[in-house]
Amino acid sequence: MLQRLKALFGSRPKESRTLLETDNVPQHIAIIMDGNGRWAQSRGLPRVAGHHAGMKAVKRITVAADRLGVKYLTLYAFSTENWKRPKAEVEFLMKLPQEFLSIELDELIEKNVQVRMMGYKSELPGHTLSAVEEAVEKTAHNTGLVLNFALNYGSRKEMIEAVRQLAESAREGSLNPQDIEEKDLSAKLLSAEIPDPDLLIRTSGELRLSNFMLWQCAYSELWFTDVYWPEFTEDHFHEAVREYQRRARRYGGL
Ligand code: IPE
Ligand code: IPE
Ligand code: MG
Repeated sequence: MLQRLKALFGSRPKESRTLLETDNVPQHIAIIMDGNGRWAQSRGLPRVAGHHAGMKAVKRITVAADRLGVKYLTLYAFSTENWKRPKAEVEFLMKLPQEFLSIELDELIEKNVQVRMMGYKSELPGHTLSAVEEAVEKTAHNTGLVLNFALNYGSRKEMIEAVRQLAESAREGSLNPQDIEEKDLSAKLLSAEIPDPDLLIRTSGELRLSNFMLWQCAYSELWFTDVYWPEFTEDHFHEAVREYQRRARRYGGL
């Protein structure tokens, strides 16, 4: 546990001494990738330019997570509430998965990354869904980093759907309400096949969860930064992991 290694070096000399414990890397890191619009506006660019730049950060952090030995990386890409945005912005966002995957899919395959999607498919435009599904299919047998895109994801919707399924089983008589345990609800969530996040990162200075993995983050370590998502680098990512490694996770115990 105390075996510390100068495991990884960043590009800039001052921040390069990233001391990371190789045996205490979070298994699952979830990121609320926020601040694309403000990043663009602060440069006099249209908000969508920020989304485009954010795509490069997705690439950067995926590579960084893979290098670090993270097993699951969940990225909040579009919430069930983001449909409220202007139509043109939503349309732009819905084109990004295909653009990202057309550039990166081959390398993801080569890196043994498994792409998954966590979200509601029926509202997505066909072109968005088919790009994501193609990536999911082509990487299904990969055994490396799981890159889980939360796309049209909302935690409350997810919990309501789960409760509906449990209630249905109870009505049919196959489930006794008194027997419902935490694992039964977890198993009905979109995240059923992945462990709860160990570390949740949110960029851009906002200190809230915005309907993201509310059940699953019950005991996640939270880390916030003022940095806008398009500027989030491997160094920032390591800073979050280093902080995680300094924390004591008690789960209510001592
Ligand atoms: C995050 O950046 C990306 C999405 C929510 C799709 P924002 O678009 O929320 O950027 P800000 O928060 O307005 O700066
Ligand atoms: C959360 O960011 C959703 C994503 C990052 C995809 P928002 O920008 O939508 O969150 P609020 O509206 O500031 O809470
Ligand atoms: Mg935002």
